[in-house]
Amino acid sequence: MSIRIARTTLTALALASLAATAAAQGGDKIKVGLMLPFSGTYAALGVAIENGFKLYVQEQGGKLGGREIEYVKVDDESDPAKATDNVNKLIKRDNVDVIVGTVHSGVAMAMAKAAKESGTLLIIPNAGADAVTGPMCAPNIFRSSFSNWQPAYAMGVVAAKEGKKTAITLTWKYAAGDESVNGFKEGFEKNGGKVVKQLTLPFPNVEFQALLTEIAAAKPDAVYSFMAGGGAVKLVKDYAAAGLNKSIPLYGPGFLTDGTLDAQGDTAQGMLTTLHYADGLNTPKDNAFRAAYAQAFKLQPDVYSVQGYDAAQMLGAGLAATKGDFGKKAELSAAIQKAKIDSPRGAFTMSRAHNPVQDMYLRKVEGKENKVVGVAVKALADPARGCRM
Ligand code: BEZ
Repeated sequence: MSIRIARTTLTALALASLAATAAAQGGDKIKVGLMLPFSGTYAALGVAIENGFKLYVQEQGGKLGGREIEYVKVDDESDPAKATDNVNKLIKRDNVDVIVGTVHSGVAMAMAKAAKESGTLLIIPNAGADAVTGPMCAPNIFRSSFSNWQPAYAMGVVAAKEGKKTAITLTWKYAAGDESVNGFKEGFEKNGGKVVKQLTLPFPNVEFQALLTEIAAAKPDAVYSFMAGGGAVKLVKDYAAAGLNKSIPLYGPGFLTDGTLDAQGDTAQGMLTTLHYADGLNTPKDNAFRAAYAQAFKLQPDVYSVQGYDAAQMLGAGLAATKGDFGKKAELSAAIQKAKIDSPRGAFTMSRAHNPVQDMYLRKVEGKENKVVGVAVKALADPARGCRM
C-alpha cells in the first residue's frame, strides 16, 4: 500500500470513529425518514401522523435519547408501485437512522421488506397489513397502530351481539380490505352470523352506486366496510343518500368515521364502529394530549395523530435505553419491545410480534364525535399467524 493510500484510509477511519463518538455522545442529529401519504385519498391521515409524531418530540424538548431530530420527508402517494424506490431513497440516499411510515398496507409491505434486508429500524404508525407482524415480523420492525385483523374482529363480535345474522362486506380490493373482511368474518361467524356476499372495488375508486343497488336488493341485516380518508367520507354520504342507513346499519372499523365527521355531517349520525381510540375517554393522558394537539395545530386529533404520537414514544423508549445510539440494535429493539406506552388511547404493551396489545372500543357517532360506548374486546392481541421470532 502506498503511503498516500494508507494516510487516506487512516483519515477515513478517524473520521468514522469521530462520527460514531459524536453520535454516541448525542453530538449529531437523528435522521428520521417520514414516509407518508401527503397527497391523494390518505393525505389527511399522513398529516395527522406527522403532527402527532412531532408533538411528542416537541414535548421532549425536541430531542429523543439526548439527540436532536432532523426530518426527511417522502410523499409515498399510497402507491405500492413506487414504494420500493421511495423507501430505498430514504435508506440508501439519505442514510436515515429510522423510518416512520406508512398508512397504506401495500406500501408498508414493501417498506418492511426493505427494512428487513437493510436492518434499518422501521416503526409503522398506521398500515395494518397482517403480514408485517405475521410472516414478515423482524426484530427491527414495530407497529404503533393495529393489525387489520384487530378492529375488524371486534366489529364482528359486536355485530353478532347486536343480533345481526347476515352481512354483506364492501371494501377496497387490497390487503387492508381483504384482511379487514377476514377479521370481521371470523368474529361474526364465530358468534352465529354469516357473511353472505363480499363486494369489492379497486383502491382508491369511490363509484359505489352499483354496489349499493346490489345491497338494497339483497337486504342483509348489516353491511361491513373497510374504507378510510376520502373514500370513507364518500361511502358514508352515498349510503345515506341511497336511504340505506334507515334500514341496514353500516358497520366498520373506526376508520370509517375517524377524522371524517366534519365532512360526513349528519350522514354518519348514530353509526357504530370499533377502534383502539375513541372520543370522550376522559383520562388525564388523553385530555392533555388533545389540548396540546389542538393548541399546536388548531385541529382536533384523531386516531392517526395518536398513532404518530405513540410511534415517537416508542422510538423515545428505545433511544432512552441506548442513550441515542442506533448501533446498539439488540438493546434498542428489546427496550421498545418491553416498553409500556402511555398512549392517549390507554396504556399498551407490545406483542412478541411487535404489535400493540390493546382494548378495542365500541364507539357511536354523536355530533362531531366518535363517543366511547364501552370496550368491545379487552386487551386484544393480533394472532401474529406466521411470525417466527
Ligand atoms: C391500511 O392500508 O392498512 C389502512 C389504511 C387506512 C386506514 C387503515 C388502514
